[in-house]
Amino acid sequence: MAAACWLLAAALCLLPSTAHVAAQGCSVNDSRPNVPENNPVGYVVTTIHMESGFTARINPASPDASYFALQGSELQLVQSVDYEEVTLLLVSLICENNAGESDSLEIFVTILNENDNSPEFKQTNFTEVVPEDTKVNSTIIAREELSASDADLDTIYYELTTTVPGSDGYFAIKGLNNPEIYLHKALDYEKFKWTTLILYARDRPVTSTDPTNTATATINIIIEQADTKAPWFLPCTFINEEQSICISSLYAGRVNMSEVATEPLLLQPGPLYAIDPDYTINERIIYSIVSGNMDNVFSIDADTGNLTMNKPASSPGSYLLQVMATQVNNIQKYSIASVEIKVINKSNHAPYFESRIYNGTAFADLAPGSFVFQAGHPSSPLMITALDDDFPDKVNPSIEYHISNSTDFIATKDGLILTNVVLQSPGTVTLEAVGMDMVSLQKASTVIVVEVVLAAAVASSDKQYSAQDMGILGGTLAALLLVVLVFLGVVIYKQYGKRINYLVNKKLSKKPSEGYDNKSYKQDEQPDASTEQQEASEDGRVRSVVEVQEQPALPSAFPAAEETESLPKAAVASTIIFDQEEKEEEEVEPEKEVKSILKTDRQVANDGYKAVWFRTDVDPEAGERIQVIEDNAADSDDDSDQDLQRNEEEEDDDKDHLHRGQAVSFASGSSPVPAAEVIVNMSHTEEDNSL
Ligand SMILES: *[C@@H]1O[C@H](CO)[C@@H](O)[C@H](O)[C@H]1NC(C)=O
Ligand SMILES: *[C@@H]1O[C@H](CO)[C@@H](O)[C@H](O)[C@H]1NC(C)=O
Ligand SMILES: *[C@@H]1O[C@H](CO)[C@@H](O)[C@H](O)[C@H]1NC(C)=O
Ligand SMILES: *[C@@H]1O[C@H](CO)[C@@H](O)[C@H](O)[C@H]1NC(C)=O
Ligand SMILES: *[C@@H]1O[C@H](CO)[C@@H](O)[C@H](O)[C@H]1NC(C)=O
Repeated sequence: MAAACWLLAAALCLLPSTAHVAAQGCSVNDSRPNVPENNPVGYVVTTIHMESGFTARINPASPDASYFALQGSELQLVQSVDYEEVTLLLVSLICENNAGESDSLEIFVTILNENDNSPEFKQTNFTEVVPEDTKVNSTIIAREELSASDADLDTIYYELTTTVPGSDGYFAIKGLNNPEIYLHKALDYEKFKWTTLILYARDRPVTSTDPTNTATATINIIIEQADTKAPWFLPCTFINEEQSICISSLYAGRVNMSEVATEPLLLQPGPLYAIDPDYTINERIIYSIVSGNMDNVFSIDADTGNLTMNKPASSPGSYLLQVMATQVNNIQKYSIASVEIKVINKSNHAPYFESRIYNGTAFADLAPGSFVFQAGHPSSPLMITALDDDFPDKVNPSIEYHISNSTDFIATKDGLILTNVVLQSPGTVTLEAVGMDMVSLQKASTVIVVEVVLAAAVASSDKQYSAQDMGILGGTLAALLLVVLVFLGVVIYKQYGKRINYLVNKKLSKKPSEGYDNKSYKQDEQPDASTEQQEASEDGRVRSVVEVQEQPALPSAFPAAEETESLPKAAVASTIIFDQEEKEEEEVEPEKEVKSILKTDRQVANDGYKAVWFRTDVDPEAGERIQVIEDNAADSDDDSDQDLQRNEEEEDDDKDHLHRGQAVSFASGSSPVPAAEVIVNMSHTEEDNSL
């Protein structure tokens, strides 16, 4: 309490005789000295100046004479003084000489306070049980119980902290100097069930640099759950972060038409069941049907929630019941759940799979959504079928399929099996497939053994194209090719007949084969294409094949029409993934090659490159192998007199013509399958790649 004591001292100093005080024969510099409390014994209060002949002694009658002693000229304290007991000492000295002259000298000793006492709580340990539903701002512990005292009479500064993580901010004190604890934030038993608070009492502000004495009190808070929540139907989902509200979803059940179930109805996702979320209280809950119970078909057991039937349901459709669960002690604590009871035709037979085990083949590295094919029939997608004897044709339209123990594959509603991921490594995968009657919820299961094989030449790509895109592209490219080929054919036949024919054949047959790195894949994956090639060879003519292949996996990816009857065409298309880059290369290269043979102007840059151009402004140079096609040359082999431009424009006629002649066959566009193939078969006598 330094400030106060210095004030006191200052007040004393303001009294008139603060400075040198003298009596007759004796004097002191300061008749009102200050002494800090807790002084050592022998502390010199002041020194007395005596004139010669005079002596001083303590007047034993002075009030506090016992505190003092004179040692020579020093006035000393003979005991330690406590400010908390004595704050002012008064001693009077008698000054006298042999002549009998005598005077007295009053000395006031002010004891200065020191901060030598700690604050003290009356009680340092509290335990309070606080109900969860205590109102905010309610007092938890009163000020009187918590106020600390301080012998130095210092002002006490309080601080409240908590030791339990997560319980910050719920309890607070009213002020820095008012330790009353009140509830600052609504309690939640789910968050913490007890906490410990520490109340600090300091005799200096926390920010002070002075030596500070501190006392602590520990307050244990035990939270008692209150009946705050209405019942919850289970299972339920929390809808708020505090997890204080939990909502159940629809319960669903089925009853047979015109039949009274003898047992309690089985419901999804589980029996009707509600709990009191205030589980330490666990109030009793009763159930009732509050609406939707037309004709009083259903009853609910108030205690168990079991739903039973009073009478048969007589019309198809469903009942939507509202079931209430309410606390017995407080009807206002309730919740409502919806129960849908479908009335279905009695199902006497469960579905069953026509095959206990299915074998399929899937290709690794294909994009998700690719078909699993029937083992041994790489062009037929695998399809599983569950039959139901409740139906005359055994076809139950309510059956849906799913793969129960793998997410790498999925089953369509129709029973087609598709990949759901890019299958990585070759191997065998065993799956369980389930066919469920979505009406009766009866189900059947079967096993699918899928062999995953490498589709070597099919590189995966991120780009996907619809069948329509590819159809357009294929058609355009095929048309371009056709134009070029028609053009070429006409020119060649006009001028050189079979000899040129031979040369062109080799040029054409060489390049396309470079476009396909993997011949074996072509044979594996393209049974149709290779068959056609072989057929062409069997004609006895050496083949020259230009293929514009839109989609390597296409023939196998597109099942025969009857196999996909139930699958919409768009669905089929969307499962097909094309490889854009590779395809473009394949498509463009033969085209470029064919085109480059014909030039409107002469090209000299390419060594060893044989070109045909139209002679308009350039004369053939000596020493180069140049063959000149006369613009209006007479046609010896063909009956057509049309010029080249004309031929190009009338490609359709020429197509027919060429079909008849040297066989340009063209298949594209009109097919729903976006594949385009152009096969040019031209007869020649020998195969020579060293053109
Ligand atoms: C609690 O007291 C404070 C201060 O008086 C007031 O602002 C607040 O609204 C009170 N809160 C409640 C819930 O009474
Ligand atoms: C409906 O009929 C089926 C077949 O007899 C039976 O298995 C099922 O338990 C019946 N459902 C109810 C709710 O009684
Ligand atoms: C009927 O109630 C009992 C008791 O609550 C419960 O164990 C049982 O699952 C209920 N049955 C049905 C079908 O809900
Ligand atoms: C139920 O059976 C009736 C009569 O047998 C039939 O007309 C009706 O279509 C069936 N309902 C369903 C959903 O199968
Ligand atoms: C799926 O279930 C079948 C049959 O129960 C089992 O043979 C197979 O190993 C399972 N497959 C996976 C991937 O769990």
